[in-house]
Amino acid sequence: MGSIHEPHVPTISTSYVLEPADKFPLTDECKHYEGKHQVPWDIQKYFSQRYSIFSWYDEGVYMTDNAWFGVTPEPVASQIAREMSTIDSSKDTVIDVFAGAGGNTVAFALSQRWKRIIAIERDPSTLACAQNNAEVYGVDPSLITWVHADSFDYVELVHNRPEELHPDLRIDMSKTVLFASPPWGGPGYRTDEVFDLSNMQPYNLEKLHAAYRKMDHVLFLPRTSDVRHIAKLAPGDDRKIDVVQYCMEGASKAMAAYIPGSCPDL
Ligand SMILES: C[S@@+](CC[C@H](N)C(=O)[O-])C[C@H]1O[C@@H](n2cnc3c(N)ncnc32)[C@H](O)[C@@H]1O
Repeated sequence: MGSIHEPHVPTISTSYVLEPADKFPLTDECKHYEGKHQVPWDIQKYFSQRYSIFSWYDEGVYMTDNAWFGVTPEPVASQIAREMSTIDSSKDTVIDVFAGAGGNTVAFALSQRWKRIIAIERDPSTLACAQNNAEVYGVDPSLITWVHADSFDYVELVHNRPEELHPDLRIDMSKTVLFASPPWGGPGYRTDEVFDLSNMQPYNLEKLHAAYRKMDHVLFLPRTSDVRHIAKLAPGDDRKIDVVQYCMEGASKAMAAYIPGSCPDL
């Protein structure tokens, strides 16, 4: 009698182009400064405003030196989160495509408006800070899916090859709002009376619009941004773009443009 062999069942391991990030460890670049004497001179101005940036700073907020320049201060992030809470209730997912140290991501989570938050950051140390800061603020870890990636790659996959995304990163575009607070580099944003968004670096308005135009999205931009340029993104039908200035202590800090999806080309 011949021996009976177990049928060979191959193990299938599926790997995706993008997957959720595990918890990233804090690195030497992640810092919690305790006194001004520790702080590099170009960050001292921001450090003196630390409690306006993160009111729970002393509870163990970490930042990279670069993150100080771009983080959305807590009162502004909370106000944006409140405003975004009033968006059409059929939306249940928000994607923060430039998560940074987590200023906006944490505010979205604390607003308890969203079923899912997908937070994407390209720099591993900054991502580690954001994950730490969400923990400091007591955010339910199951609410935020962190992604360590170039967010333009993510958006491209969402549109064209969603099957290459881990299932936890797939979204229903009709139920999603994208929030973008890109870096505000480039000549002129601090000095020009009206900032030409074509000069914003490394991503100008045309690049951002090309990536996000099919989705409802919010762009967080310098306060002097040329609103006529933004107005050109308005859809042809009755839908309008709301532009909101965000002020702290009487001075505008930034503006946000609330842009409906399927906008026309620039
Ligand atoms: C202005 S900061 C965002 C600040 C954030 N809203 C906060 O409150 O902390 C921009 C962030 O985008 C990240 N970044 C730049 N290009 C990126 C890309 N293509 N994909 C993902 N992250 C990117 C930078 O590393 C930086 O942390």
